[in-house]
Amino acid sequence: MFFRIRAIGVVLSLFLAAECGAEDLSAKLLIHVDQGKDKISRHIYGQFAEHLGRCIYDGFWVGNDPSVKNTGGVRDDVVAALRELAIPNLRWPGGCFADNYHWRDGIGPPDKRPERSNVWWGNVPESNRFGTHEFLGMCAQLGCEPLICGNVGSGSPQELEQWIEYVNADRGALADERRDNGRAQPWHVKFWGVGNESWGCGGNMRPEYYADVMDQFTTFMKPFGGTEPFRIACGASDANTNWTDVLMQSYKRKQMFQGLSLHYYTLPTGDWKHKGSATDFEEDSWISTLKNTLRMEDFVKRHSEIMDKYDPQAKVALVVDEWGTWYDSADSAALFQQNTLRDALVAGINLNIFNNHCRRVRMASIAQTVNVLQSMILTKGAEMVLTPSYYVFRMYKPHQDATMLPTELTSPDYVYEKMTIPALTTAASRDDKGAVHVSLTNADPHHAVVVECSLAGADASKTDEWKVSGEILTAGRMNSFNDFGKNAEVKPTNFDGAKVKDGAVSIELPGKSIVMLAIENLTAASAKDASTK
Ligand code: AHR
Repeated sequence: MFFRIRAIGVVLSLFLAAECGAEDLSAKLLIHVDQGKDKISRHIYGQFAEHLGRCIYDGFWVGNDPSVKNTGGVRDDVVAALRELAIPNLRWPGGCFADNYHWRDGIGPPDKRPERSNVWWGNVPESNRFGTHEFLGMCAQLGCEPLICGNVGSGSPQELEQWIEYVNADRGALADERRDNGRAQPWHVKFWGVGNESWGCGGNMRPEYYADVMDQFTTFMKPFGGTEPFRIACGASDANTNWTDVLMQSYKRKQMFQGLSLHYYTLPTGDWKHKGSATDFEEDSWISTLKNTLRMEDFVKRHSEIMDKYDPQAKVALVVDEWGTWYDSADSAALFQQNTLRDALVAGINLNIFNNHCRRVRMASIAQTVNVLQSMILTKGAEMVLTPSYYVFRMYKPHQDATMLPTELTSPDYVYEKMTIPALTTAASRDDKGAVHVSLTNADPHHAVVVECSLAGADASKTDEWKVSGEILTAGRMNSFNDFGKNAEVKPTNFDGAKVKDGAVSIELPGKSIVMLAIENLTAASAKDASTK
């Protein structure tokens, strides 16, 4: 009897410790502050807007609707929120929509533009009110670079060549037509996609066939108005390394592109037929979603290894131009989904992976910016909600264009039933003022982790001068989210859990959280060594 009661007591105390997070775990992080060489391109923090559901119409664009404040049809609240993220690029018009889009439908007097069916997304009417001029005007308002995905699946090399000419030429018939449509100056658009998912909705091609088609299209993607296009060839999905191999063989022969894409979506179950709910989930779905997110690291490594084989100097960028969560949606042609703390973890983990692989991953776009899949922003009439994922992008801003610092992390495991993942991920960078920025994610919802963070190459005898500050994103529940008409449940707050101690920084990272730290006033150890010689 005694043993039975004791056993129940032990089980109960373990349960309470886990539930209350009483039993902290520990981790070690070494940041090589003296070893950074690769830049984290700001273009890793890119966005994606497709003619899909309410992303463009209602999301970005309200046209003449007087009930929503707008400038030239583009919502002012959305522009202000995205400017705060310093979004570097916006990919448009799709997605699958791109390979069915004919740019001439979207220029000229709006009331003369033809209505079409959006065949990929529910056959809803596409008014073409939002076209090339509206998109490029919107990018100017957002202060970001456009990435236009060309139509390879149902278009022609001539159509794509003329789109580039229309947009970028400084003289000639197409430049005149552009001027007649209200824009005299060329836009100098640099980033162009050569089709989208050409192995699927973009034409169901084999890699060998696409490689030839891509050579043909890129031959005609010429510089106009002095702007050399940065051509992004359609790349693989997930672990399809054969696609990458074939495309890189083609690159080796002719160097016809500068970027090669990769798409990978996180599904809680990994099953496209039963993906799982965005908000109504338990811990099994939390951990499986984060485990599936971590697969990105493996995909990036495997595709990069193949690219290294043909392009050891990493001239070609790996462009992860579709990533994020995809849940079951009430309307599978609109793909609207809510966004919880779990999505914030997904964003933080993926961005850490891209940062750490920034030598090869130099561009990425989360799918999609407004009202579709893992959005930054949700809109309803004149209301707007900033999602947990939005705040991760805001917190990670200091990584944009900073120098990536190599890290060594020893993380405790987070175990739930039969699933195990490392609890932590991290990335570090140094900005041009010498401050070190460290992003950390803790997937374990029950345990805080005390991270002892050492800075190799920094003078540890001057720690009294170090200044540490930060922000944290966490919430009461794994599925906390921000909703219309309510105070935000998931919003960053100041983080005071990092202290300089014994020549290192001790960080107490709460369960289910994302933390971004800035460590300032570091002195290089080597400078001190040099001065004592
Ligand atoms: O982002 C939604 C869709 O996912 C895109 O249109 C397509 O490229 C991908 O399959």
